[in-house]
Amino acid sequence: MTDLPLALGTIPFGTSLDDETTFAILDRFVDAGGTLLDTANNYPFWNEGATGDESELAIGRWLAARGNRDRVVLSTKCGARPTVPGDRTLDSAEGLSAVAIRSAVEGSLRRLGTDHVDVYWAHVEDRSVPLEETLGTFAELVGAGQVREIGASNVAAWRLERARALSRANGWPAYTRVQLRHTYLRPRPGVRLAESGHVLVQDEMIDYLRSEPDVTLWAYNTLMAGAYTRRDRPIPEGYDHPGTTHGLAVLREVAGELGATVNQVVLAWLIGGDLPTIPIVGVSSLAQLEEALGAVDLKLDDELRARLDAVR
Ligand SMILES: NC(=O)c1ccc[n+]([C@@H]2O[C@H](COP(=O)([O-])OP(=O)(O)OC[C@H]3O[C@@H](n4cnc5c(N)ncnc54)[C@H](OP(=O)(O)O)[C@@H]3O)[C@@H](O)[C@H]2O)c1
Repeated sequence: MTDLPLALGTIPFGTSLDDETTFAILDRFVDAGGTLLDTANNYPFWNEGATGDESELAIGRWLAARGNRDRVVLSTKCGARPTVPGDRTLDSAEGLSAVAIRSAVEGSLRRLGTDHVDVYWAHVEDRSVPLEETLGTFAELVGAGQVREIGASNVAAWRLERARALSRANGWPAYTRVQLRHTYLRPRPGVRLAESGHVLVQDEMIDYLRSEPDVTLWAYNTLMAGAYTRRDRPIPEGYDHPGTTHGLAVLREVAGELGATVNQVVLAWLIGGDLPTIPIVGVSSLAQLEEALGAVDLKLDDELRARLDAVR
């Protein structure tokens, strides 16, 4: 079965979204052919009153209620869970030592109510731990059947290449996915993002991925939290430059010509380009999910794509 080229983000599940809405979104996603679910062992630890268990627990309750573990590709992450209860920063993050990873995977499997994770991500880099230790431990988890494939999130291109070379040299499974912040609009070069842990797709990473077709890009923040279309969500200051003005104008033009929404054009642009990308969409209602699903079959022909590419 081919996976729908869209992953469902799950940050608000079990906190700002109750089980009724969470289950309705998951049901609709799966009914529409969706398989890829993206969570982490710390969502949403930064919210007052949350521990970081909530998203995985909500998915676990839904899997148990529906009995459909085999129909989904479960992706979760380790490395960025605070070790100090109540810490809302990454300062006390568990990191990527062997001990931290082994304990993290046990926690995720327990909360999700499953015996394996399909895609297991290093959520952030941990340069205090030798890559050999992190990658060797991931290999151990794959060997034990607890994890099927591995990926790296918020990683620099050179570190991804070093990690993959090291895994290959040791005969270990290598990272086959990378998860980064990416959308149609680009911030000004060198801008410091408000979200300190986020790493953007840069030209060097694009170049790397074009020559390594076995690595798939999963992109987050693809709809910029709704900022493409919502007056209550201003586009972040770091995106303030002429390319944004022109890009938004062309997005609106193309959406009008296709009878689609701007959000759908953004997602279609990510999915169908020469750098195949799985957009992760975070939604809090069925209407937002429907809009995202509508992007999957939206085709941008060469002329439209060239117009979009020319101005960003
Ligand atoms: N690896 C990482 O470090 C990392 C970092 C961030 C996120 N992620 C993953 O990516 C997922 C999505 O992240 P994100 O929250 O940054 O994504 P996003 O897609 O940029 O933002 C999601 C929010 O956008 C709004 N929205 C969604 N669809 C909309 C629509 N059609 N029209 C108007 N507004 C819409 C909703 O806000 P309201 O709910 O307020 O309506 C929704 O909660 C997460 O759940 C997570 O799985 C990974």
